[in-house]
Amino acid sequence: MAKLTVDLGERSYEIIIAADLLGKAGELIASRTGINKVLLVSNPLVFSLYGEKVAGSLRGNGFEVATALMPDGESYKNIKEAMKIIDRAVSCGIERSSLIVALGGGVVGDLAGLVAAIYQRGVRFVQIPTTLLAQVDSSVGGKVAVNHRRGKNLIGAFHQPALVVADTSTLTTLSPRDYLSGLGEVIKYGVAFDADLFSYLEKHHQQILKREETVLEHVILRCCGLKSMVVAKDEREDNVRISLNLGHTFGHALEKMGNYREYCHGEAVAMGTVAASLLSNHLGMLSDDELERILKLFDHLGLPTAFPENPAAIYRYMLHDKKIQAGKLRLVLPATIGSYTIRDDVSRAMIIRAMETARHMRF
Ligand code: NAD
Ligand code: GLY
Repeated sequence: MAKLTVDLGERSYEIIIAADLLGKAGELIASRTGINKVLLVSNPLVFSLYGEKVAGSLRGNGFEVATALMPDGESYKNIKEAMKIIDRAVSCGIERSSLIVALGGGVVGDLAGLVAAIYQRGVRFVQIPTTLLAQVDSSVGGKVAVNHRRGKNLIGAFHQPALVVADTSTLTTLSPRDYLSGLGEVIKYGVAFDADLFSYLEKHHQQILKREETVLEHVILRCCGLKSMVVAKDEREDNVRISLNLGHTFGHALEKMGNYREYCHGEAVAMGTVAASLLSNHLGMLSDDELERILKLFDHLGLPTAFPENPAAIYRYMLHDKKIQAGKLRLVLPATIGSYTIRDDVSRAMIIRAMETARHMRF
């Protein structure tokens, strides 16, 4: 069992990573929160796979458990569905001293986390992430949100979990597409922060595709370690936390343009990371060799990289990004493999050129 602490003073919490953890969820949560009433939030698919195991473990450790299910999919990550969970919390008698537990991928975690942030001005919550993406990224760091029709995650809060329980065994049931989508965020960590992680991914890409447990545990632990470090330095994204968004300005625009149905988040981040890498290369930062290594890794892992038509339209969506400051797009770009830079001086023409190049790329 691997453990990490996200160091945030009185809001510090542990991330626990291991196989077969769900049956111990109740015990882990009881020893850390001391709360006895729980609203377990999930979706029908995840609940059918793991809900009873978690609920049973909670009940076995003295918790009174109510459940609330939201429909499956990014297009339901909205305020209307959050309100339904709040209605359920009210009718189940969830109190300020109760606990909300999110069991699922990033969509369930983000929405349940937002409910926890606003219900009765904030109740404690625990993340039990069941996708690779949620285990390496969304369950850690306290960003909770739902989408607005004008843009991604526009309604949100910072609300740190009390605990993150990442059971790597749950990844065996993920669809190939959702598994690959998580790898989009994993590669982002290597590109932005950690040349050793990037080399590890290059070397172990076959084991990663086979979902080998020891390799996955190493990768999840490293990604959580990197994210924890960034979040501990800048919890509310005043400065360095923006680095976690490498590839996301392109990615969020792609997600929005596809009405949150065409691309999964990690796929869009993968495509965005490719565009950011091409742009960096065009700007004279990332070398040709490094660019080739990045493109090859995406290809070896089978992630989508080619952009759809109409980069000018994607650019218009990019202008709704939350990272805009004084009307300027702030882009996180790889400077080398393992380091990033932030640029707010890149012309529209250069950004569109990078997307055009990504559109015509063939391996
Ligand atoms: P998701 O939550 O939609 O899960 C993907 C699919 O996998 C869903 O159909 C889900 O039901 C299914 N699923 C979940 N666990 C499963 C399992 N163990 N076995 C089988 N199927 C399973 O998508 P995601 O990729 O986990 O998360 C994407 C979301 O995360 C986006 O909304 C994104 O904005 C958000 N996100 C948030 C942060 C953050 O810091 N808060 C960071 C990155 C991404
Ligand atoms: N995924 C971006 C962040 O957590 O800041």
